[in-house]
Amino acid sequence: MTLKKMLSPSMMCADFLRLGDELRTLEETRCEYLHIDIMDGVFVQNYTLGTDYIRKLHEATSLPLDIHLMITEPSRKIGWFDIRPGDYVSVHVEADDHLQRTLAAIRAAGGKTMAALNPATPLCAVEEVLPDLDGILVMTVNPGFAGQKLVPQTLDKIRRLRGMLDARGYTGTDIEVDGNVSFENAKLMSEAGANIFVAGTSSIFSKSGTTADNARRLREAVGN
Ligand code: DX5
Ligand code: ZN
Repeated sequence: MTLKKMLSPSMMCADFLRLGDELRTLEETRCEYLHIDIMDGVFVQNYTLGTDYIRKLHEATSLPLDIHLMITEPSRKIGWFDIRPGDYVSVHVEADDHLQRTLAAIRAAGGKTMAALNPATPLCAVEEVLPDLDGILVMTVNPGFAGQKLVPQTLDKIRRLRGMLDARGYTGTDIEVDGNVSFENAKLMSEAGANIFVAGTSSIFSKSGTTADNARRLREAVGN
């Protein structure tokens, strides 16, 4: 199965003072998702967006959200989030002792499920929950901050993950990549088998071009 290549702009990197204009541009350039980073200052050393932002964004756009939970005890907190049908919710496997239960709770709330893996976390961490997953998020930097450099061995990790999923019959399971998805790296990530690209300061919100031009350039880089 050839999965559609999709863009998920990272809203923590958007211009907050022009958020309405940014949103319209992301809709016009047909971005498939909006990536929302939720950080709690414990699982990662930063704070970013939150529950009210998600609620308000749902009122402002019909684009589905791609909610990336970088928080401790996600199983206790799933109910805090305004999850709508079509939204992705990703949970870090490192943060959850009861991952399978949390994924079931996300599906029960109407969301699509994703497990997120830090660069040091092996692929076997998701082996037993493949039936519970719509996608897997491969962190290509250590999470917490925009503007970091790619951890290079994650490219081969994407390739091995795509191979593992296909060999087990999970050909429709998405692979998302997050962190330093630059125009150059996005091409390599796409060739390795990723199909959802978190676009931050390295691409769509890069000062080297307008958001619209950057979106077109990124789409060209990842193909289809
Ligand atoms: C963290 C974030 C960052 C960032 C990606 O989960 O999603 O990785 O916004 O944008 P870059 O790495 O291009 O600044
Ligand atoms: Zn993220």
